Amino acid sequence: MNITILITGGAGFIGSNFVRYMLLHTEYSIVVVDALTYAGNPENLADFIADKRLSFIQERIEHTEKIREICNHYGVEGIINFAAETHVDRSIMDPSPFVTSNVMGTVSLLNIARELGLRYVQISTDEVYGSLGDDGYFTEHTPLQPSSPYSASKASADMFVQSFVHTFGVNASITRCSNNYGPYQFPEKLIPLMIVRALENTTLPVYGDGKNVRDWIHVDDHNSAVWAVYCQGKKGEVYNIGASSEQHNIDIVKKILSSLGKSEHLITYVKDRPGHDRRYAIDSTKIMTELGWRPQISFADGLESTIEWYCTHQQWCNNIRNGDYQRYYQQLYGKNI
Ligand code: NAD
Ligand code: TYD
Repeated sequence: MNITILITGGAGFIGSNFVRYMLLHTEYSIVVVDALTYAGNPENLADFIADKRLSFIQERIEHTEKIREICNHYGVEGIINFAAETHVDRSIMDPSPFVTSNVMGTVSLLNIARELGLRYVQISTDEVYGSLGDDGYFTEHTPLQPSSPYSASKASADMFVQSFVHTFGVNASITRCSNNYGPYQFPEKLIPLMIVRALENTTLPVYGDGKNVRDWIHVDDHNSAVWAVYCQGKKGEVYNIGASSEQHNIDIVKKILSSLGKSEHLITYVKDRPGHDRRYAIDSTKIMTELGWRPQISFADGLESTIEWYCTHQQWCNNIRNGDYQRYYQQLYGKNI
C-alpha cells in the first residue's frame, strides 16, 4: 500500500503527535507542510525524519499554487488541516495572523481539495461554541458563538468548510476537540507553561480567580479520534471530541506543583484575560456511538506522564522558547514576570 496524506501543521504540537501516531499505527505515507512559525519545530519530528514514509516541506497553507504542486507531486489522497495560529492571548494582541492562517489558509486548502477531489478533515475546536455556564455540554448542534479572535477565525473556517461541502460537494468533515495536553506542546498554553515555570521556580500566572473550567484530553486520544473521522467520518458532518475531564485551572496548577514537590507560593493571580470563556465541556456521544471511538488515557495518568516528559526534555523547551517567548511575555504583561 502506498497512500499519501498531506498533514498541515505537522511540526506543531498536535500535528507532530499525529504524524507519530500515523507512522506507528498505519502504513500510510505522510507529507508534512508547515510554515514553521514560532510554534512549529522540526525537532518535533526528529525521531522519524529518516523514515522514508515521511516528507517535510516548509510552506504556508495559504500559498495555494505551492500546495497544489505538492499535492500533485506526491499524489495525495487527502488533507488533514492542523495548521493554524492557536493561542487565544496572541489573538487578542493581534488578530490579523489568525485571519491569514486560519481563514485564508483553510479556504486555500479547500480550493485544492475541490479541484483535485481530495478527502478533507478540518481540525477545529470546541471554542467555536463560546462559553458554558455551570451546567450543560457542547453538542454538535450547539450554535457557534465564538468569543475570542482565535475562536472567531476557527468558526469562520468551519463555515467555509460547510459551504464547500454544500456548494461544491467537497468530501469534508470537521472535528471539534476540547483542550489538549501532552508532549511537544509549546510552553505558552496552560499545562506546559506551568510545568516549565515551576521547574524554573518562577511565578505561575493564574488568570482571574482560577475557577475557569476546561475539559482536558490527552493528545493521543485526540489523534485516534481524528484518524477515525478521516477513515469513517461522513461528508459534511461535525464530530465533537472530548474525554469528559473537566478541571478548574487552579486545581491543575496545584496538581503540577504537588507532583514536582514545589510550593504553592509560586502561584500568582494576575489580571483576567479579556473576554475569558468561563467553562468548556464536550458531549462526545456522536463519535462514540457512530464511529466507535473511546478515549483511553485518564487525566491523572496523562498529566503525570506529561510532567515527566517536560522534566526529561528541558533542552527541547529551551530550544523552542528562544527570544520570541521573552518578547511575548513582555508584550502580554508589559514587563517580565
Ligand atoms: P500549534 O500552535 O502547536 O501548531 C500549529 C502549527 O501550524 C505550527 O507548527 C505552525 O508552524 C503551523 N502553522 C501556523 N500557521 C501556518 C500556515 N499559515 N501555514 C502552514 N503552517 C502553519 O497548535 P496545536 O495545538 O498543535 O493545534 C493544532 C490544531 O488543533 C489547530 O488547528 C487548533 O486550532 C486545533 N485545536 C487545538 C487544541 C489544543 O488544545 N491545542 C484543541 C482543539 C483544537
Ligand atoms: P490555554 O492553555 O491558553 O487554552 P484556551 O484558552 O484555548 O482554553 O488556557 C487554558 C486556561 O488556562 C484558560 O482558562 C486560561 C488559563 N490560563 C491561565 O490562567 N494562565 C496562563 O498563563 C495561561 C496561558 C492560561
